[in-house]
Amino acid sequence: MNNSYLDYLAYLGVGGAHPGGLHLTKNLLGKEKLDETTSVLEIGCGTGQTSVFIVKQYGCPITALDNNEIMIMKAKQRCSDVQLPIVIMQGEAEKLPFEDNSFDLVLSESVLSFTNISSAILEAKRVLKPNGVLLAIEVTQEKNLSEEDIQELIAFYGFSQVLSEDEWNTMFQAAGFHTIQMEKHEIVMDDQDLELELATDFTITEGISMEYMDALSKHAEYTSHYREQLGFRVIRCIK
Ligand SMILES: C[S@@+](CC[C@H](N)C(=O)[O-])C[C@H]1O[C@@H](n2cnc3c(N)ncnc32)[C@H](O)[C@@H]1O
Repeated sequence: MNNSYLDYLAYLGVGGAHPGGLHLTKNLLGKEKLDETTSVLEIGCGTGQTSVFIVKQYGCPITALDNNEIMIMKAKQRCSDVQLPIVIMQGEAEKLPFEDNSFDLVLSESVLSFTNISSAILEAKRVLKPNGVLLAIEVTQEKNLSEEDIQELIAFYGFSQVLSEDEWNTMFQAAGFHTIQMEKHEIVMDDQDLELELATDFTITEGISMEYMDALSKHAEYTSHYREQLGFRVIRCIK
């Protein structure tokens, strides 16, 4: 396979490509104070499922950024039929094209693990207003993985690192966030997904080969194989 896991997600147009899916996103956002005055940035928006949900549900002005051209195209398609206060742009999490202190909430759902983590966290903090909130959902190493396992996961997913809870904590502390809360979750993948809206939506690029579906099967295999060793954290930090 020459393409990366993120290329497969992009060509398949997978929305809600984070543990917990839209169901978890809705729960988390329900605990925040959001209204039409809250400025939101979503980093690594993928096909824009979460950003479109936020703008429709809360009326917040939102900026959705991703570095993948195909994801950006699909996110734009998602909102092409409705007029929404949403700006969708291509850019890098490690070099955000925004002024300091621009946003009340920065959201990043299964993205930081694919980036240069310390740079992306520092950037998220820089663009947050004082007392702004960073919400992240990130895969987390629960039990020590062998070096071989880590390399296998990095090779397939394209993670930069597979961090433990302590290591995530250290990263956010080092960036200078003053309140860091971590909530532990297990990665699940079963028949209940459909009912819980963990199931994703797809906007598949025409003419792609079966190789792409194979990548999804491989992801399901890894999820099952590493279910004891990998979980995820909902991370909420305040600047
Ligand atoms: C696992 S997907 C999650 C997408 C979306 N947040 C969701 O939950 O559906 C990771 C996303 O992060 C984006 N991404 C990865 N590295 C990035 C970077 N350095 N800067 C911006 N986006 C990045 C990918 O293109 C992809 O859309």
